[in-house]
Amino acid sequence: MHWVDLAAAIVANRHSRRPVVTAAFDEMSFLAPIQVGQVALLHARLTLVDRSSMEIRVDVQSEDMLSGERRTTGTAFVTFVALDPVTRRPSPVRPLALETEEERAEHACALERRRLRLERRKARTAK
Ligand SMILES: CC(C)(COP(=O)(O)OP(=O)(O)OC[C@H]1O[C@@H](n2cnc3c(N)ncnc32)[C@H](O)[C@@H]1OP(=O)(O)O)[C@@H](O)C(=O)NCCC(=O)NCCS
Repeated sequence: MHWVDLAAAIVANRHSRRPVVTAAFDEMSFLAPIQVGQVALLHARLTLVDRSSMEIRVDVQSEDMLSGERRTTGTAFVTFVALDPVTRRPSPVRPLALETEEERAEHACALERRRLRLERRKARTAK
């Protein structure tokens, strides 16, 4: 999970070119173990950019070092917030350019995830 957070942080930082902090880590299921003798492959990409927040999808696979066989081991959605380097307050970031049908479809799902995430946040802070 630390690697997932790091991979997502790199993507958020490269997009915003600002300091970033993890705001939310959505549920992550571990579908298969990564064993000794296997390499963990992490693929992280931006799926949503709002004002200062960014959702990054991280797909994790295992690769067997002898056979090269790859298996999906998990997917996580991590939200990062870009901060102003001086005030350390949330700071606007440039929008995300959606170029392919796949990116647009992923973005539509990300909007729904964001809505649910913010609802959960509101419910927690209301307690
Ligand atoms: C994340 C953080 C900077 C947000 O600050 P805040 O004062 O709550 O700011 P706001 O309410 O104005 O929210 C700023 C943005 O963060 C988003 N955000 C805040 N909490 C969130 C959460 N739990 N889930 C998803 N998004 C969240 C808001 O939706 C908003 O997004 P937008 O600008 O794109 O619309 C602040 O809560 C924080 O510093 N948290 C601790 C971060 C941390 O220590 N992480 C672990 C170590 S890196």
